[in-house]
Amino acid sequence: MTAPREVVRRILADRTDQPKGTAKVYVPANIALVKYWGKRDEALNLPVTGSLSVSLGPLGSHVELSRAAGPADEIRLNGAHLPADGSFAKRASAYLDLFRPRDFFFAVQARNTVPTAAGFASSASGFAALAKAADALFGWGLAPRELSILARLGSGSAARSLADGFVEWHAGQAADGMDSYAERVAAEWPELRVGALVLCAEEKPVGSRAGMKRCVETCEFYREWPARVARDLAELKAAIARKDFAALGAIAEGNALAMHALMAATRPPLLYALPETVAAMRTIWAVRATGLPLWFTMDAGPNVKLLFEAKDEARVREMFPGIDVVAPFG
Ligand code: PMV
Repeated sequence: MTAPREVVRRILADRTDQPKGTAKVYVPANIALVKYWGKRDEALNLPVTGSLSVSLGPLGSHVELSRAAGPADEIRLNGAHLPADGSFAKRASAYLDLFRPRDFFFAVQARNTVPTAAGFASSASGFAALAKAADALFGWGLAPRELSILARLGSGSAARSLADGFVEWHAGQAADGMDSYAERVAAEWPELRVGALVLCAEEKPVGSRAGMKRCVETCEFYREWPARVARDLAELKAAIARKDFAALGAIAEGNALAMHALMAATRPPLLYALPETVAAMRTIWAVRATGLPLWFTMDAGPNVKLLFEAKDEARVREMFPGIDVVAPFG
C-alpha cells in the first residue's frame, strides 16, 4: 500500500517549496450524475468505479493561502476563525501536512459560495481549492491531472472539482492511484439547470466516508454496483454527446436510486431519505407524468437536487419555491 505522503513526494519530485506571498484561487463544487460510492484504497481515496459529475459554476470555494507566523495553522471559514481542534480545521491541517515544509504554518482564508445549508457538499470544492492554492503558493505548476490526484487525497469527490462543466473521474487500476484522476468531458450544455431542494440542513448522522465503507463491507448487492456504474457511465456519456436531456435525467436519477438501494441493504442500514425526501420524489414523478422533464439526484443525505432545462425554470420554481438554481454552463 502506498501512503498519501509517498504519492505527494512522487508528484512534487524535486520541486522546491519557496512560498510566494499569497495565493488566491476559486474552484466550483460538483454534483455527481453517476456516483462514486466505495473505495478500493481507503488511504488514497481510490474508487472502485469511475464517476461523472457536473461542476456548479459560481457555487464553490474561494481559498487564500499564505504563510502564518505559527505556532499553528490559522484557519478562517466565511470570515470566522476556526478553533484548531474543530473537525473542519483538523481535517484541513491534516491535509496540509501532506505538503507542509519544515517549520511551516499555513494561513487559510476559505469562503464558500455554496450556501452551507444548500445541501451541496462543500468538502469537494474545499479540498480541491486547498490543492490548487498550494500549487499556486509554492509555484509548483502542476498539470491538471496531478492537481486532481492531490485533491483526491483530501476527499474523493474533490478530484472532480478542478474543472468546469461535465467532469469524469477515471477509477484507474494502479496501486498508487497515479491513473485515478478526473478531467473535463468536452461538451457544453448551456440550457442545463441544477436546483437544490433543501429539506434538512442538519449534519447527517453517517458521513459518506464511513457510509461507503460500511456498504462495501456488508451490502451483498454491492458486487452488482461496478457493472451498473460502467453501463450508466457509457450511457450518460452518449446522452451528453447527443444532448438528450431525458436520457441524462433518467440515468442520473436511476443511478442515485440504485446507490440509495445499496445503502438501504447495508448492515446496519443507511437510510438518508426523510419523509420529506420521499414526498419530493413523488412530487417529481407526478410532475414528470404530466410531461415536464424534471429529474432528480441525491447524495449521502436527505436533500434533493433537481435536474431540468432552462425553458422549464419558471414552472419548476413555482412548484418548488425557495430552491437555489445553478446554470453549470453559465
Ligand atoms: O468525496 P466524498 O468522500 O465526500 O464522497 C462523495 C460521495 C457521494 O457524494 C455520495 C457521491 C459522489 O460521487 O459525489
